[in-house]
Amino acid sequence: MSTEGIATNTAARQYLARFTPEQLLAWRVAPLENPLPAAERGIDLPMPFGWFVVSYSDELQCGQVKPLRYFGRELALWRGEDGTPRMVDAYCRHLGAHMGHAGRVQGNDLECPFHAWQYNGAGEVTKVPYAKIIPPQARRSCVKPWRLVERNRFIWAWYHPHGEEPTFEVEELAEAASSDWSDYEKHEWLVWGPLQNMAENGVDAAHFRYIHGTASLPNYDVKFEGIRRVASVDASMSTPRGDVPGTISYGTVGAGQAWTRFTGICETLMVAGITPVAPDCTHVRFAFTQSKASLDGPSAGVARAMIKDICRQLDQDKVVWDRQKYLHDPLLCDGDGPIAAFRKYYRQFYAELPPDDGAGEVSRSFVRKAR
Ligand code: FES
Ligand SMILES: [Fe+2]
Repeated sequence: MSTEGIATNTAARQYLARFTPEQLLAWRVAPLENPLPAAERGIDLPMPFGWFVVSYSDELQCGQVKPLRYFGRELALWRGEDGTPRMVDAYCRHLGAHMGHAGRVQGNDLECPFHAWQYNGAGEVTKVPYAKIIPPQARRSCVKPWRLVERNRFIWAWYHPHGEEPTFEVEELAEAASSDWSDYEKHEWLVWGPLQNMAENGVDAAHFRYIHGTASLPNYDVKFEGIRRVASVDASMSTPRGDVPGTISYGTVGAGQAWTRFTGICETLMVAGITPVAPDCTHVRFAFTQSKASLDGPSAGVARAMIKDICRQLDQDKVVWDRQKYLHDPLLCDGDGPIAAFRKYYRQFYAELPPDDGAGEVSRSFVRKAR
């Protein structure tokens, strides 16, 4: 069977064909209809720690406050007059108002909409406009402050369930800091499943063919190096003007930082911001930037098609992910990618280890039997 034949006929492709372009955009971020409780889907994985995107930089102006929900918590994010983003847990320590809704920025601090108490980025009350004395407990950090970093045109928050300090940094991506590269083209999804399951997709070699209609990834050698996962594949293309050498390489650092670089016919960087909302819900942002030289040149059409295809692949995966059960003991076969190795690598991002998922045992026993 030709790859072309498979490409037009995958089940996920047919499933998605029901949507108009507008319906597809709405489906990407819609609540799930008739969701099952996480426990019934076997989702008992905790949220991993690490740096996670909470906003695009250009979506938070000086003086702006945003309510957010990530890491199973309500949050208030704001940008002070000094240009620095700050974030605290949203509920005011006074009487519990949600400061992300109708809170406002005063100087560099956040003012609660209810009685105008003001908080700094350390979660300390700096002003109670109608009281002579600020209660001593309120002078200390009385709402949880979050450590933020602004990098690669994103605002990143460090999440650790026990409040431990960062053990690594947000990787700097040169393209994102360069004026020779275009503004981000933004795409987003809510995926109704755990972050680990999404990340596992990159090593699930067999699914590329059956859900995406592409050939199984050739020479796709995934390396696990400490907190990094890197892979590179040859993506040279034949064109009417001859062969153009190219590569697709991806990297991840920790659980929340991921990017893919395309070189060759069109230079593109995709930064993926993948942030847990809850143990069974993940917010996904794909941000594409391209060298302006590529965008102006004859490869612009190729670049457009490539972005469309990457987003379509996420749609196809989401069809499965949204309803998938998490199996600690998957029944693997020899054509599957390094799923067991991936799960072992990923366990380092949990403060509490999930139950042993046994994937390694299944693989080893299969290989023994197959010999
Ligand atoms: S509830 Fe926030 S100031 Fe009163
Ligand atoms: Fe996929």
